[in-house]
Amino acid sequence: NLPTQVKVYEVSARDGLQAESLTLPAEVRAQLISRLGGAGLRSIEAGSFVSPKAVPQMADTRAVLDELDLGAGISYPVLTPNRRGLDDAMAAGAKDIAVFVSVTESFSRANLGDGLEVTTARNLDVATAATKAGMRARGYLSMVFGDPWEGPVDPQRVVTAAQQLLAAGCSSISLGDTIGTATPGHVSVVLQALIDSGIPVEAIALHTHNTYGQALANVYAALQLGVSEFDASAGGVGGCPFAGSATGNLATEDLLWMLDGLGISTGVDVRAVAETSQWLSQQLGKPLASATSAAIVNQ
Ligand code: HMG
Ligand code: MG
Repeated sequence: NLPTQVKVYEVSARDGLQAESLTLPAEVRAQLISRLGGAGLRSIEAGSFVSPKAVPQMADTRAVLDELDLGAGISYPVLTPNRRGLDDAMAAGAKDIAVFVSVTESFSRANLGDGLEVTTARNLDVATAATKAGMRARGYLSMVFGDPWEGPVDPQRVVTAAQQLLAAGCSSISLGDTIGTATPGHVSVVLQALIDSGIPVEAIALHTHNTYGQALANVYAALQLGVSEFDASAGGVGGCPFAGSATGNLATEDLLWMLDGLGISTGVDVRAVAETSQWLSQQLGKPLASATSAAIVNQ
């Protein structure tokens, strides 16, 4: 009993490009986002209001938002790690924000510069303030299926963090397999723990990385439990600058090829995404990792 419809949450312009050594100018990132919108994507992450020293690739996210029509039925979430980020996002006209919390101490320090307790409290505060102000908030959890420093992660930690984010007003929780070590059985166990704790499956999204080639298999395991929101990145661009072992995100066109084949509707045109990835590949001056993109273009 798979879902009949899936929301594809596009992260190439943020999670993807933050990991590239070449920083694309804001206008090129805005073009990428417009192309993705043209392909039918309706949730397209546009950037981050974070420290430009930590993530220089996202430094001028405000200029990206300035190029977009923020009232056009497409949401353009931006990452906001603290109150300053939220204030800047609001001033730029953002309607959607995402907070991000680690479920491990080590990655909290590597990614957010402080211990778990402090960074979690800070992010919960941002989510609460954003939703009070009428914005939509998404909550990311990182290192849900394993951490390069700490190893396996207790699913109960994930349940607790997800419940905290929902209580702070987040409308969905994205479970990050940040380093791509998850396998389908593990995904099922963690999802079942969340569902058993009373978290509605509609509030759960899965954020996979294809480091070990498991991303699509993990999506399929999640579909079987009713999950209907998946993060993906055009061309599979991505990684994580603060977790060296992470490689690319699941490619959007690979996800779409599987969903199309399963008869699950997304409203997104796989061919248009593949063409956008080819364009992005030229902008970055390097080949991208999507098998579907390569197959479509070589037809
Ligand atoms: P910190 O050093 O603990 O905090 O950083 P701070 O308050 O001491 O600030 C340090 C500097 O950043 C200061 O500048 C601040 O002004 C500035 P300086 O005085 O050194 O010139 N600063 C800011 N600048 C712009 N916008 C802001 C802001 N806040 C402080 N909002 C902080 C803490 C969180 C700010 C920092 O560590 C940071 O920005 N980290 C970036 C984290 C990030 O973007 N990570 C990537 C996204 S998460 C991810 O990719 C995982 C995900 O995809 C899911 C998955 O796969 O798991 C979501
Ligand atoms: Mg990621």
